[in-house]
Amino acid sequence: MSTDLQELFQSNRQWAAATEAREPGFFTRLLNQQSPQYLWIGCADSRVPANDLVGLLPGELFVHRNVANLLVHSDLNALSVVQYAVDALQVSHIIVVGHSNCGGVRAAMTNQRAGLVDNWLRHVQDVRDAHEGFLAGLHESLQVNALVELNVLEQARNVCRTTVVSDAWHRGQSVVVHGWVYGLHNGLLEDLKITATSADEVGLAYDTALALVKQRYRQLTVLAGAAAMPSAAGA
Ligand code: CO
Repeated sequence: MSTDLQELFQSNRQWAAATEAREPGFFTRLLNQQSPQYLWIGCADSRVPANDLVGLLPGELFVHRNVANLLVHSDLNALSVVQYAVDALQVSHIIVVGHSNCGGVRAAMTNQRAGLVDNWLRHVQDVRDAHEGFLAGLHESLQVNALVELNVLEQARNVCRTTVVSDAWHRGQSVVVHGWVYGLHNGLLEDLKITATSADEVGLAYDTALALVKQRYRQLTVLAGAAAMPSAAGA
């Protein structure tokens, strides 16, 4: 790796040329406007590149990423992104995307200390503590991914509760909020079905999605327990 990162500039030149060759005028068309339909709120993890996962080009996805894909009500950075996406760009969908084996969620789950980021991850620990009994009843190997999904539901509900989304719904603007999870092991996105299209739907959407997560992880715990005791079936 060079000090001036020439390899990245070189690969950038190739990408720009290939993009323009594939679609002549691509960059000039994007020059004056962007009209993405989707706002992606995802983890900063380098293994979860938003546009690539859903095959979207520049101009098609508005993106906000932070450690553990949080939407914190006092985070002016994230709130500004949501506000611009909803009010100015008029996106139709806001998608909170967590991912399996998230390092931030793992640290929060297991009380690992990493420095300043611990304060940020305290928000994930609040989610963990709210579901303490459920998580404690799961096989240890499943707890991090379960918390990943619980966290997505919590953050998606937070999005619904922002003044921005709440006001948009109130004035009749169509915005759909979603919660997804991405599998690092297989590259696949799954819908956690917390989909909400109005303020009235949020409570039921959250409860239904939460019940599904709990049901699935309880089943997985039974399977993990059976796998851990191979002799039990024969005994
Ligand atoms: Co992560």
